[in-house]
Amino acid sequence: MTRPRTVFAALASGLVAAGTFAALTPTADAATTLGAAAAAQGRYFGTAVAAYKLSDTVYAGILDREFTSVTPENEMKWDATEPSQGTFNYTSADTIVNRAIANGQKIRGHALAWHSQQPAWAQNLSGTALRNAMVNHVTQVATHYRGKIDSWDVVNEAFADGSTGARRDSNLQRTGNDWIEVAFRTARAADPAAKLCYNDYNTDGQNAKSNAVYALVQDFKARGVPIDCVGFQSHFNAASPLPADYQANLQRFANLGVDVQITELDIEGSGTAQADSFAAVTRACLAVTRCNGITVWGIRDTDSWRASGTPLLFDGNGNPKAAYTAVLNALGGTVTPSSPPVSSPPVTSPTPSTSVPAGACSATVSVNAWTGGFVATVKVTAGTAAITGWRVAATLPGGSAVTSTWNATAAGTSGTVTFTNASYNGRLTAGGSTEFGFQGTGTAPGTTPTCTPA
Ligand code: XIL
Repeated sequence: MTRPRTVFAALASGLVAAGTFAALTPTADAATTLGAAAAAQGRYFGTAVAAYKLSDTVYAGILDREFTSVTPENEMKWDATEPSQGTFNYTSADTIVNRAIANGQKIRGHALAWHSQQPAWAQNLSGTALRNAMVNHVTQVATHYRGKIDSWDVVNEAFADGSTGARRDSNLQRTGNDWIEVAFRTARAADPAAKLCYNDYNTDGQNAKSNAVYALVQDFKARGVPIDCVGFQSHFNAASPLPADYQANLQRFANLGVDVQITELDIEGSGTAQADSFAAVTRACLAVTRCNGITVWGIRDTDSWRASGTPLLFDGNGNPKAAYTAVLNALGGTVTPSSPPVSSPPVTSPTPSTSVPAGACSATVSVNAWTGGFVATVKVTAGTAAITGWRVAATLPGGSAVTSTWNATAAGTSGTVTFTNASYNGRLTAGGSTEFGFQGTGTAPGTTPTCTPA
């Protein structure tokens, strides 16, 4: 875990010495995204991704800004990857995988063997024919992605709900009780580097079902069947709330010698209650050393498989919800960006600010508004000369207020609010531009903001 504390201190002192930026906050190195904040805790923060949404710029923008792991939501399932027996189609899954690799994001593979979302041909098989088809499927798909997958959900949802602790009845189960271990051994042979997980829901607290999974892991460990992790889907709502013993349950699995991961988190609800549950899940993962990371099951509420429950961290417009702030804060991050990103320019030899002549600048604003709130994105453009810093003044209508700002520092919250460049985006070349943004309650500024070089 390396946090850029000393690097940023050097940058800050250099700039203060140059007399350009005096108002840097003491918490200047707190991470401002889920991914960066989780990374500072040695964890990933992931989301389910749908390939067909990647052309949506709001969706892709949040994905790349906030998340350090992706799980294809449907694209790696049996029906998608082997639509007819022996014919494999990786087009959509490859799109997600290649994009994630290019962006340095981890990939959770989901799912190799599952009773659901099977192609019709597999649904109609049984006995040895189905067992062989499953083994071939696991081999082919895990080999195709060999070396690219951080963790595979090798087997998904193999246990029944309720008090029996029994296996779920399925065509795969009817091929013999050993189908799970055969799937794991097959996956290990095909991709020895991937962590191999068992993944399920309603196993988030101690109950008959999670006890049965626990016994399976214990048995696999005792007999040397390869298993590296257990995924807890964590789909919560009023009927199936976050259990009080969530952390203890994660810990008892970790104590068996496997990693634990929160794999499909969504929590129906809104406001503070929803935010509190998200924060509690986050704290539980951080409290369990072997909890590798958290994946939420979609980005915006409207992307969710149960959208009516508004169970995610961003609203339908892509604006962060209270639940987002709660998770970010639980991870030790902060929503007010007051620090340069980890990838800020080298700081060892800053260009003296005096060498760049001052010039004019202009600001244009684009607004995404909804009833009671808005997000404003402001583009700051230098004139014919380079500038070394800028201030943008925006006047809000009466009753409106700025609630958060990114890539700039706001002075004031209502009336005329002045936004000063962050330490990493003040310098603009002649004609160059940068963007900052702010979220507010009420109505967005109705007039064009003014820009002053600083
Ligand atoms: C869901 C997807 O989100 C939906 O788009 C699809 O229609 C059905 O499957 N448990 C799992 C996930 O392991 O694969 C499921 O994903 C949600 C429940």
